Amino acid sequence: MPRTPTTERCFTVRTYNAIDNDIETLKNNIADAKTRSHFLGGIVRLAAHDFMDYDQNSSGNPMGPDGCFDPSHPSNAGLPADVWCANCTLKLLYDKKYSHVSRADFWIAAANAVIRQTSIGNSLDLMETFVWGREDSDVCAGSGDRLPTPSGCEQVEGVFLERMGLTWVDAVALMGAHTLGRGANEFSGHEGTWVDTDEDAQVFDKQYYEEIYLNSWRPRNMGEGTQDWTTGGPSDGGNTRMMLNTDICLVHDIDGNLPCCTSDEDTCGGFEAAARRCPFYSQIDVRWEARQAVGEMLGGSYPNTNNVPFYTAFAEGWRKGKFSHYFS
Ligand code: HEM
Repeated sequence: MPRTPTTERCFTVRTYNAIDNDIETLKNNIADAKTRSHFLGGIVRLAAHDFMDYDQNSSGNPMGPDGCFDPSHPSNAGLPADVWCANCTLKLLYDKKYSHVSRADFWIAAANAVIRQTSIGNSLDLMETFVWGREDSDVCAGSGDRLPTPSGCEQVEGVFLERMGLTWVDAVALMGAHTLGRGANEFSGHEGTWVDTDEDAQVFDKQYYEEIYLNSWRPRNMGEGTQDWTTGGPSDGGNTRMMLNTDICLVHDIDGNLPCCTSDEDTCGGFEAAARRCPFYSQIDVRWEARQAVGEMLGGSYPNTNNVPFYTAFAEGWRKGKFSHYFS
């Protein structure tokens, strides 16, 4: 049975709170907004990649949160360079103070700390559902192949619904973590933040969903393996906004419809995409539920400050994801 962090000798409430404090100190030591957002986002991505390789259909090798990721797999690019490396501050912290707990437990506790500290009013505290006792694996061959690639819309179904056994609401809520951090050319080949600025990319709120709806997204790098989405016209040279196909696919039917623009606005002007509007899913589409879930995360008509639907759904998706190996 999973164990709760109450009075056990190993991973106590004190351990959990100490990790939270230490993450805050590391974060506060980073002055530059871009570096800081990437530090925060990298921790959440690390914990998520550890549990996103879970396959409920593989009784012999379900994987899940086991403190193991494949550093050479392209889906993990950036993690072994910036987040979990010999000189990475997170790993140094673990080695120095927390190596008596498993990496898997530490990664989740560290991610919980990031989420609590960056949520509005520190209101998303995931300690209640934290359990410890995950066991680490030193090798996890094939784990990277179970992670989603950003290009294909079917990836979301494959990872979250079919292998992890989550609902569309869980999946869409987990994707909202892209409100934190950024992508980089040197890692995934997808450069930029999902939200407006590096400051916004340090706030864990529903902005990711608002960005999908409010912006006029157009494809970038058409015809290349790094095809993704950005905003702004030809004169907007400093633009580093970014969405992946797997983000846009939550709302828009882009399979077979590229190039297209997610809005009629003339910010797509000057690009081939402006000629066609990316259709929204309708009720007969398999991803209609995804579009509905994005609508729920918006918390009511825009603008509003209601993060409760997102936080509630995220807490549930995160709880299921990080416990996945206990379900097998
Ligand atoms: C279809 C599913 C997903 C795909 C295809 C995907 C893909 C990506 C890619 C390509 C990056 C950029 C990496 C880089 O260049 O450094 C990224 C970053 C990130 N992902 Fe995801 N992701 C998915 C789901 C998730 C989930 C479920 C979470 C967490 C619950 C998550 C959290 C993050 C975070 C926080 C970052 C920013 C990392 C940083 O700043 O270093 N992602 N993701």
